[in-house]
Amino acid sequence: MVEVVISRKLPIDEQSPEWRRLARLARVRVAPLARTNLKNAVGVLSVLSDTIDAAFFKRAPHLKVVANYAVGYNNIDVAAATRHGALVCNTPDVLTNATAELAIGLMFAAARRFKEGTELIRTRRFKGWDPYLLLGRELGGAKLGVIGYGRIGEAVAHKARALGMRVVKHGSRNTANNLERLLASSDFISLHCPLNSQTKGLLGPRQFAVMKHGAFLINAARGELVDESALVRALRTKRLAGAALDVFGGEPHLRAALLRQPNVFVLPHLGSATREARVAMAKLAVGAIAAVLSGRTPKNRVN
Ligand code: 8YV
Repeated sequence: MVEVVISRKLPIDEQSPEWRRLARLARVRVAPLARTNLKNAVGVLSVLSDTIDAAFFKRAPHLKVVANYAVGYNNIDVAAATRHGALVCNTPDVLTNATAELAIGLMFAAARRFKEGTELIRTRRFKGWDPYLLLGRELGGAKLGVIGYGRIGEAVAHKARALGMRVVKHGSRNTANNLERLLASSDFISLHCPLNSQTKGLLGPRQFAVMKHGAFLINAARGELVDESALVRALRTKRLAGAALDVFGGEPHLRAALLRQPNVFVLPHLGSATREARVAMAKLAVGAIAAVLSGRTPKNRVN
């Protein structure tokens, strides 16, 4: 019997209409994709830590659809999928608000020094209120540079404006000059672009060198957009006042130099981690697999 293999248990009820529709089309099995037999798989639901490359397609000769449980799909070799005749889908829109809210949260965390504040409490070094204790800065009136002006970047800009921030943006159609101007003038720089060969290491030594003194870097996109050695240097030399990261290179292992920085607040990739978003992502991804297996083309295809 043909199978659909789902990489992780999802926050979706097996009695839900989406799951039941899928179960009528194929046997549905939950198993880590890296370690399971995919000979009979016609569909898989992958997560961002699953590498879906040419070698993967060799293990799954009958695969017709890969639904990635994320909006980003840098873990998938889309060209290899196309050569194999497999459709790739992602989960756009349903996680836009969750991720934009988290990015705004990261701005507050960085600007109001949440990491240093919690450390003071945790290590019992808080000796009482003081007019100078951990002064931060306000988002209202500050300039936010949004790099990557897609759905999430736009949602962040919208929320930021409501907080009184001025927003400048850099999208894939803008020039390197535009990026430099944004970096030189922004108090907060927030990354929202996809990771691909053009954007890998987008913020390196040259880009940190033009950033405004005392700026904050926010990353709720992908760790590999940032050269982390250059980030650590920018923090040590005080060019940056702080960083708040939901993502980092080589997840789940955070490099020690970042962990040690008092002004680097880090979360374990929680951008879409709300019940609302994760349930909607599951329905979208499961629905896309069912659509392909019934001969329809889902809207959220990327190839
Ligand atoms: C996570 C994300 O990937 O959608 C993305 O691209 O980074 C997040 O939504 C998701 O939480 C787990 O797959």
